Amino acid sequence: MDRPHALDATTIRADFPIFERDFGGRTLAYLDSAATSLKPRVVSDAVHDYNVRYSANIHRGIYTIAEEATAAFERARAKVGRFLNARDSHEIVFVRNATEAINLVAYSWGRRNIGAGETVVLTELEHHANLVPWQLLAQEKDANLEFVPIDDEGRLVRETYEALLARGPRLVAFTHVSNGLGTINPVREMVDQAHAAGALVLVDGAQAVPHGPVDVQALDADFYVFSGHKVLAPTGSGALWARRELLEEMPPFLTGGDMIREVHLRQSEFNDVPWKFEAGTPDIAAAIGLGAALDYLDAIGMDRVREHERQLTAYALELLPREVPGIVLYGPTTASERAGIVTFNLPDVHPHDVATLLDREAIAVRAGHHCTQPLHERIGEAATARASFNVYSGQDDIERLVEGLKKVQRIFGRSDGHVSPERDVHQEEATAVAGAAR
Ligand SMILES: Cc1ncc(COP(=O)(O)O)c(C=O)c1O
Repeated sequence: MDRPHALDATTIRADFPIFERDFGGRTLAYLDSAATSLKPRVVSDAVHDYNVRYSANIHRGIYTIAEEATAAFERARAKVGRFLNARDSHEIVFVRNATEAINLVAYSWGRRNIGAGETVVLTELEHHANLVPWQLLAQEKDANLEFVPIDDEGRLVRETYEALLARGPRLVAFTHVSNGLGTINPVREMVDQAHAAGALVLVDGAQAVPHGPVDVQALDADFYVFSGHKVLAPTGSGALWARRELLEEMPPFLTGGDMIREVHLRQSEFNDVPWKFEAGTPDIAAAIGLGAALDYLDAIGMDRVREHERQLTAYALELLPREVPGIVLYGPTTASERAGIVTFNLPDVHPHDVATLLDREAIAVRAGHHCTQPLHERIGEAATARASFNVYSGQDDIERLVEGLKKVQRIFGRSDGHVSPERDVHQEEATAVAGAAR
């Protein structure tokens, strides 16, 4: 199969004003896109345009700017629907982020459909956002949570998944792409197996939507969630996609204005989907910004985005172990099995120290448990460092990371016992800085 035409990160960076900023004589090497993405100018322009030209509330005013705002907000919903290949844009509920979308499903669908003694199947890979809402639901309903384990490379153990499905769970909820290890899960196969066992499926797409094509019809899950801020859009934007029949049956989550058709003193009738789930004034500007971000990515092509990140991941997986002695990498060993996320540790250097020292070179990486504490328990590390990519990431970022890590090793003394003469001077300083950051 022909690979899509490669992306040129240097050209793309011209669309992101942050790369014009000077960081002590350097440009930013932003390697924390899994936490949040940078935003292109077209997104801030769209938000600005709403704020200065038609900043009215939606779904109520009948004057020009109110109608413009409503139309722009609903156009953004249609863009999300097209981006995910939803059957119908009424299947898209705007939320603040993936966390809110999962909570919405847990409270609305979960409270009605999960009973005492029933089971929800999750995995060891999950972000806290796809654990804690189910923990609370299970406690409230006296339901069971079961977990699919991972193997030593961070792949789900499918035999255990099948064994758990044989117990007849009501719901299976798992991440499309692991934010901790980058593992891409075989969603369609897992959905088919879950459906055959009579379970519904929620897929956490927070790390998938930004990095490659997602087609909710082809995946055939029941719920799919993502956050706008990881997909070049503003914070405060995100979406829940769900099959329309499910949304129709589900009771509202938050209640109040805009989600109603009629209100009387003692009871109310609710609005149609998706507005039934959108109580109060939403983040209108962020939703419009999300529409602009998806237009931007559409113009690039999500196949190209995926190929770009696959190439960067392959480059990082090759370069880091070759150039950085003793580095430990976590997750699947081949780039085709993982998204643009490379999690690592340097022996005898705390990842917070790594991140603090890299920051001095204007290299931004994440250090910590990445909101995946159970996953970190599984891999036997309290914390790791993580480099993650997006459309503006390039090979030069990875080369800067390698040089930065070599410098960290020089400061801390290499894993092979070699201690740099710089070490005494720098270690005290590095540890003090990192201690403050912890
Ligand atoms: C896999 C995954 N799920 C859920 C979330 C939660 O996203 P948010 O904080 O935007 O709700 C994240 C954020 O890092 C994530 O990586």
